[in-house]
Amino acid sequence: MHKTILVTGGAGFIGSHVVRLFVNKYPEYKIVNLDALTYAGNLENLSDISSKPNYIFEKGDITDTDFVNKLFERYSFDSVIHLAAESHVDRSIVNPGAFISTNILGTVNLLNAARHFWNDDFKDKRFYHISTDEVYGSLGEEGFFTETTAYDPRSPYSASKASSDHLVRAYFHTYKLPVVISNCSNNYGPNQFPEKLIPLAINNIKNNKPVPIYGKGENVRDWLYVIDHADAIDLVFRKGKTGETYNIGGNNEWKNIDLIRKLCEIADRKLRRKKGASAELIIFVKDRAGHDLRYAIDSSKIQNELGWKPSVTFEEGLEKTIDWYLQNENWMAGILDGSYEKYYEEQYVKR
Ligand code: NAD
Ligand code: TYD
Repeated sequence: MHKTILVTGGAGFIGSHVVRLFVNKYPEYKIVNLDALTYAGNLENLSDISSKPNYIFEKGDITDTDFVNKLFERYSFDSVIHLAAESHVDRSIVNPGAFISTNILGTVNLLNAARHFWNDDFKDKRFYHISTDEVYGSLGEEGFFTETTAYDPRSPYSASKASSDHLVRAYFHTYKLPVVISNCSNNYGPNQFPEKLIPLAINNIKNNKPVPIYGKGENVRDWLYVIDHADAIDLVFRKGKTGETYNIGGNNEWKNIDLIRKLCEIADRKLRRKKGASAELIIFVKDRAGHDLRYAIDSSKIQNELGWKPSVTFEEGLEKTIDWYLQNENWMAGILDGSYEKYYEEQYVKR
């Protein structure tokens, strides 16, 4: 079947893995990647597939109503996979406005455009909204988030994502827009912007810089390898039931301090340092405001109903991740010196 799919946020971390998967796996689909190329967007993430005939990049902002409407007019999308977002909790604490704008208003723009252009004829249409487990709030030492856990977001980031999830569901109930939502735990892997814990720690360890742990490092996150998330997204896109939500997680909980110690151990081996050398870089710094204690996902619904399960263990995923960052020093250097932001101009404007 020929489909034209709009992927938003495809130049970011998870979006680039989703775009690559779809472009390679479905040569009969046209994949249009809409991305504003904020600080988090990096077209180098997609340099290996950018000249494929079924891939198109469009630079633009999902908060720009006219632009979004024109794009729907031009391409007549069958489906939307919506990943574009402001995604970093610490930035949301400093500047909540950008999160309200992109995550809430941008999502509403896309919902409105889909509803308008599909004109209530929703056959074979799908609006897939990618969200986070952070909408459920913070757990104590016990329990897991399920798809029916009440929303209780506690940071401006999670509150903006919760709001967008509610709006997506509201468009399903009110207008019958054929939506599906998934809420995933913390991702890690290649191409993650080095403001997030794992790439930041790898880069600092490699460069013998302090590795900052917020508070006492007791906070717990459930980690999933990004390529397993992309596979889950493919599955939910194809087989998920309209109107439903699927939780995606690695069943892989780690206290931050234990995770960083593990990373240091692997780094010692890969960097041929004496045992314990990298861990000496760990420093404890002021805690994040409102720092959620624990996230943990019950992913039995997607496992039982759609047959998904993670393909790599955490040890394998971490090894692959560290190898990738050590072998792709130019990628990291481009981010650190800002030159990655020139890629769009060189590839798309000057040609
Ligand atoms: P990211 O920050 O790496 O990438 C976000 C992308 O969106 C960037 O390419 C950026 O340029 C683009 N973007 C931002 N604002 C835009 C706008 N106004 N218009 C168009 N494009 C815009 O994020 P990520 O970590 O890849 O997350 C992708 C999605 O997955 C987000 O919706 C996030 O909430 C969700 N999610 C992330 C995680 C995680 O661990 N990273 C876990 C669960 C869910
Ligand atoms: P992060 O990667 O920002 O993801 P999220 O806040 O969405 O879970 O942070 C993961 C955990 O690591 C979180 O508990 C905050 C903590 N953290 C640190 O201890 N030090 C750091 O430098 C960063 C960026 C995060």
